[in-house]
Amino acid sequence: MLEIRKATPEDAAQLLAYLNQIGGESDNLLFGANEMQLPLEQEAAFVESINRMPTSAMLVGILDSTVVSVASVQGFGRPRIAHRGNVALSVGKAHWGQGIGTQMMQALLDFSRGAGLKVLELEVRSDNAAAIRLYEKMGFRKFGTYRKFFCIGGQYFDADYMTLEL
Ligand SMILES: CC(C)(COP(=O)(O)OP(=O)(O)OC[C@H]1O[C@@H](n2cnc3c(N)ncnc32)[C@H](O)[C@@H]1OP(=O)(O)O)[C@@H](O)C(=O)NCCC(=O)NCCS
Repeated sequence: MLEIRKATPEDAAQLLAYLNQIGGESDNLLFGANEMQLPLEQEAAFVESINRMPTSAMLVGILDSTVVSVASVQGFGRPRIAHRGNVALSVGKAHWGQGIGTQMMQALLDFSRGAGLKVLELEVRSDNAAAIRLYEKMGFRKFGTYRKFFCIGGQYFDADYMTLEL
């Protein structure tokens, strides 16, 4: 059964291995295979800094003691935009289509509501049908298109901008 909990600095090694793996499993993320070449201490410090912010969280989905999914919301510090959070979600390819992304997003929405956030935002490649379907199912709505958001292998791809009012 999937365990969902907040990431801790002790997860840093597993998180880096996971991110380097999923970077190569689709062209839908901001990074490719093995692009996360930062020192372990830096990743641990990043997790710690997220945990310190009351409107930010990095959630990990664990199966058999292994990280198979990461969902995060990052709040903004400035008072005028402190009601907003930026969301990111990924699931390891071996576990796609099993409802894990949906469970992770539900947990992220629960955290965000509890933290007092009012608006969540995300960017998703416009041709990423599975992710868009998931986000729409959870209540996100598209408000715009960012032309040439990604440049991957010399080819440009648009992104949908979506928000959810909590
Ligand atoms: C997008 C992603 C997070 C979905 O995670 P998942 O665990 O496979 O999602 P779920 O199993 O919860 O399914 C979510 C919905 O997508 C639908 N779906 C799955 N594959 C699909 C496809 N190829 N086309 C359309 N819908 C699809 C499912 O049917 C489901 O909707 P339903 O509940 O109405 O049936 C996962 O595929 C992933 O990490 N992909 C690579 C990284 C990525 O794209 N991240 C998002 C960046 S914005």
